[in-house]
Amino acid sequence: MTTPLAPVLSAFWDHPESWTLKTYLDHGGYEGLKKAFTQKPEELTQAIKDSGLRGRGGAGFPTGMKWGFLPPADGGPRYLVVNADESEPGTCKDIPLMMAAPQFLIEGVIITSYAIGCNHAFIYLRGEVVHVYRRLLRAVEEAYAAGYLGKNIQGSGFDLDVTVHAGAGAYICGEETALLDSLEGRRGQPRLKPPFPAVAGLYARPTVVNNVESVASVPEIINRGADWFTSMGTERSAGNGIFSLSGHVNKPGQYEAPLGITLRELIDMAGGMRNGNDIKFWTPGGSSTPIFTKEHLDVPLDYESVGAAGSMLGTRALQIFDETTSVVRAVTRWTEFYAHESCGKCTPCREGTYWLKQILRRLEQGKGREGDIETLLDTCDNILGRSFCALGDGATSSITSAIQYFREEFEAGMHTPASELFPPQRSALF
Ligand code: NAI
Ligand code: SF4
Repeated sequence: MTTPLAPVLSAFWDHPESWTLKTYLDHGGYEGLKKAFTQKPEELTQAIKDSGLRGRGGAGFPTGMKWGFLPPADGGPRYLVVNADESEPGTCKDIPLMMAAPQFLIEGVIITSYAIGCNHAFIYLRGEVVHVYRRLLRAVEEAYAAGYLGKNIQGSGFDLDVTVHAGAGAYICGEETALLDSLEGRRGQPRLKPPFPAVAGLYARPTVVNNVESVASVPEIINRGADWFTSMGTERSAGNGIFSLSGHVNKPGQYEAPLGITLRELIDMAGGMRNGNDIKFWTPGGSSTPIFTKEHLDVPLDYESVGAAGSMLGTRALQIFDETTSVVRAVTRWTEFYAHESCGKCTPCREGTYWLKQILRRLEQGKGREGDIETLLDTCDNILGRSFCALGDGATSSITSAIQYFREEFEAGMHTPASELFPPQRSALF
């Protein structure tokens, strides 16, 4: 059993005015920044390296190492871009964090910018979440008024401006280089890497692109020390994180816990399964990661253990489906999403996701044809590893893993509609 954790990022979300600067200060906010200004930028980068913080956007790349990739200062600008384009199906951690306690992010932006030598940071947000956009604008305004942003922050001699930018609402703009193109005013499509943004990012200048939760984790690491952070989680997956639970549990929502907690423990925290039903399948890190089943309930949710069990920790988006759910229907819905969001730049993903969707739709309707399952697997094989960015690969994960665990349900799609085998629940999407 993983040691329970006193919440940090979600410590005061139930406060009636949790989002204000006053509430943040009342709960010890901006202590990390005070400490940061007593240190040299390179000491801060070292502290983040020592903490073992790994990117919370899904890939789990070490955050301190990413900061350390920036080339030596050459007198020109360098940027911090916060990836707040949270869009992975099932992922709902950054948006609640920005709504409930946006100053964690603002303080993290200031410390990170100071550490990497950036004087203009950007927060790139999904266009549809207008309520979050307004909240962030207000939080930035409050920080400027209190002298946490602008010129000579808190008498430190450090200057920082922050721009909050709302995109137009495309899943692909969460891919870091498509995000940069979109921020520069172009159509958001992935760029060829390398060069990585650390070398040539926004306006071709050195840029750190970090996820909201990664940046929001920085203040408390600086305030309490790297050892505090490594005392949580596992050796290679340190710290705490926000897990989003959705679907067939009694209390869906965000649960802050150390990495390495299991889904069984999280379901307990979420009040158990809906109607006492049995779990059938679930996603450990959103729909771009291979699905898990009941047999994986005790897999520790850290990068290494989830990887060893055949999936990815990704965004810790735990979508839970009980025994009343058709896996074919769920996979079809996800595939429709990827086909819709494919940016069209490369053929395997653009054409492949379209055909996957067509085949899955007929299997869902009980009108599958001989050889459909083999065609699905062959198409996935031709997308995986042959696409320009991770969207194409991610689109195949749920299909191949669902066929691995529930092949008989796909075979039933040759003659029986999913709606007969698993009548849709009125209260749920799937
Ligand atoms: P990646 O592994 O290619 O890169 C991770 C980060 O490390 C990037 O910022 C990259 O620039 C940096 N990096 C890697 N190697 C580097 C090097 N040699 N030099 C400098 N920097 C380097 O992963 P990617 O494509 O950025 O993200 C994929 C992940 O995103 C997936 O695992 C998925 O879980 C997640 N995702 C999250 C979504 C969300 O809504 N939060 C949506 C869709 C996917
Ligand atoms: Fe665009 Fe899909 Fe190719 Fe990525 S994999 S570049 S989303 S077409």
